[in-house]
Amino acid sequence: MSRLATARYRLSPLAPGDRRDLFAHLSDPATVEHMDIAPMADLEAADAMIAWAAALPDNGGAWWAIRDGAGDFVGTAGLIVTERRRGSRGEVSYNVVRPRWRQGVMGEVLPALLAHGHAALGLRRLDALVTPGNLASAALLSRFGFQLEGTMRDHGFWKGRFWDQHLYARLADDPAS
Ligand SMILES: CC(C)(COP(=O)(O)OP(=O)(O)OC[C@H]1O[C@@H](n2cnc3c(N)ncnc32)[C@H](O)[C@@H]1OP(=O)(O)O)[C@@H](O)C(=O)NCCC(=O)NCCS
Repeated sequence: MSRLATARYRLSPLAPGDRRDLFAHLSDPATVEHMDIAPMADLEAADAMIAWAAALPDNGGAWWAIRDGAGDFVGTAGLIVTERRRGSRGEVSYNVVRPRWRQGVMGEVLPALLAHGHAALGLRRLDALVTPGNLASAALLSRFGFQLEGTMRDHGFWKGRFWDQHLYARLADDPAS
C-alpha cells in the first residue's frame, strides 16, 4: 500500500505498532464527537480498526497513520476507492489529535490526499461525508475546493441513533480552492 509524504508529515498505512497512539487519539470524546464511532474504550478497539484498515482492498486506497518529522503521531487519514467500474470515485476521511488542531496539519495533508486520489489513482470524484455541526471539517473541505452537494437524511447509524450526513465532493477539474 502507498506511503505519502508532505513537507512536514509522513503517511504510512496503519499498522499494529500504531495501536497505543491510535487508542490515545480516538478515546478522546471531543475528537470523535462528529465522527461515526464512539470513543474507543480499550486497546482492542484500536486493534480492530488496524485490522479493518489492513483488510481494505489493495486498489490504491488506504488508511494511513500521520507522523511528523520527530515520529510523533498526529492523526490518521483515509482514502477509500469506492467505485471504479461504473464511476470513478473515492471517499476521503481524516482526523487530527486534539493538541494539534488548528496548526495546519490537515491543511498540509489534505492536498496530498487529493493529489493521490485525483492524480495518482486517476479518480474523477472524491467524496467526504460530514456530520452537520462539524464546522472545522466543513471549513477545511470548502477551503480545498469541495462543494456541499446536499444532505443525506439519516444516512448513518452509530452511537445509538441515525445521523444526517452532509455530502461534499470535489471533481478532478474543480478549482483547488
Ligand atoms: C477537522 C480537522 C481534521 C481539521 O484539521 P486541522 O489540522 O486542525 O486543520 P488545519 O489547522 O490544517 O486547518 C486548515 C483549514 O481548515 C479549516 N479549519 C480547521 N479547523 C477549523 C475550526 N476549528 N474552525 C473553522 N475552520 C477550521 C480552516 O479553513 C483552516 O484554514 P485556516 O486555519 O487558514 O483558516 C480537525 O479539527 C479534527 O481532527 N477534528 C476531529 C475529527 C473530525 O471531525 N474529523 C473529520 C470527520 S468528517
